[in-house]
Amino acid sequence: MNAITPNTPSLPAPVGLLAELTHRCPLRCPYCSNPLELDRRSGELDTATWQRVLTEAAGLGVLHVHLSGGEPTARNDIVEITRTCAELGLYSNLITSGVGGALAKLDALYDAGLDHVQLSVQGVDAANAEKIGGLKNAQPQKFAFAERVTQLGLPLTLNSVIHRGNIHEVEGFIDLAVKLGAKRLEVAHTQYYGWAYVNRAALMPDKAQVDQSIRIVEAARERLKGQLVIDLVVPDYYAKYPKACAGGWGRKLMNVTPAGKVLPCHAAETIKQLEFWYVSDHSLADIWANSPAFTAYRGTDWMQEPCRSCDRREKDWGGCRCQALALAGDAAATDPACSLSPLHSKVRELAKEEAAETPPDYVYRTIGSNVDRAAPPPLKEDAPL
Ligand code: SF4
Ligand code: FES
Repeated sequence: MNAITPNTPSLPAPVGLLAELTHRCPLRCPYCSNPLELDRRSGELDTATWQRVLTEAAGLGVLHVHLSGGEPTARNDIVEITRTCAELGLYSNLITSGVGGALAKLDALYDAGLDHVQLSVQGVDAANAEKIGGLKNAQPQKFAFAERVTQLGLPLTLNSVIHRGNIHEVEGFIDLAVKLGAKRLEVAHTQYYGWAYVNRAALMPDKAQVDQSIRIVEAARERLKGQLVIDLVVPDYYAKYPKACAGGWGRKLMNVTPAGKVLPCHAAETIKQLEFWYVSDHSLADIWANSPAFTAYRGTDWMQEPCRSCDRREKDWGGCRCQALALAGDAAATDPACSLSPLHSKVRELAKEEAAETPPDYVYRTIGSNVDRAAPPPLKEDAPL
């Protein structure tokens, strides 16, 4: 039975709001989970609309706001938006690349009541990091930014997205987090959505590298207990069971795009048959309860076998809908990352093959460019790779 239905008192409030303030970003990371069609500046919501959205979020019961993008500090009103979060009692987390104008705005963000900073680092070796991020001289800017964050006494999380281009640096990321005074490090193996899906063959590590990275993290967790918390996101393609993506569809998170479209997860727009509502037409509360996109895969009624009768169905909620669409061609299918999916062995085989090949060049994330490499097609149970 579906425990959650719209317009019922049993519908819990979302915990977090991911506010994608802009898709503009000085970095061009090939693992970005943003959509291939990025919103342009001319279509971005204005300050007053974001403030109204944040007010509605607080009213709905949201606790955390992730100020994200793109690079959120590219917005001229980032300080005003952060101040609004503080006035509303919303915990604000700035998800930033730390480059461009980020450092210049940091003290004002602190004064406006910013609660937490999450800084991305693409690599440990500067040349490698700057190749991945597609921006020269980014590394010293990031380090200067991190230094100021800790001087201000703001809690710092480092986020490292791991793939075959930097998986040899996992130990180095841990040392770097300690050196920069971070309280938390995310060792997040790439999730293949958006630009990362197009770049999958360039990013896919092999199983031995993945296992080694997990061992390094586990040893460091012991060694650095009380000093550094390390979150590990394992790569779906090598997992036994999938993650509860976004905490379960329509259960915990709302994602507002720069243009004001509200999504149940950051990659939901890839599911073309879904109808998304905009903050310009509906309140957040209405969207949370009634938007067709949010109700489509909420709960368990929509599930097919093997999820439908699986005793894990209210733990992982069938995995990731966007990955099910990309890999199985059906957003309501069991996520092929799950070992119980009929496509799972194909996924493993595919990862093995891609990791063994010479990596193709990156397709860098760019606004308004035509992607010159097609996204990989879905898998078929009875067809060769
Ligand atoms: Fe989760 Fe579905 Fe796999 Fe069961 S079959 S573990 S519910 S994805
Ligand atoms: Fe959309 Fe996982 S990214 S459900």
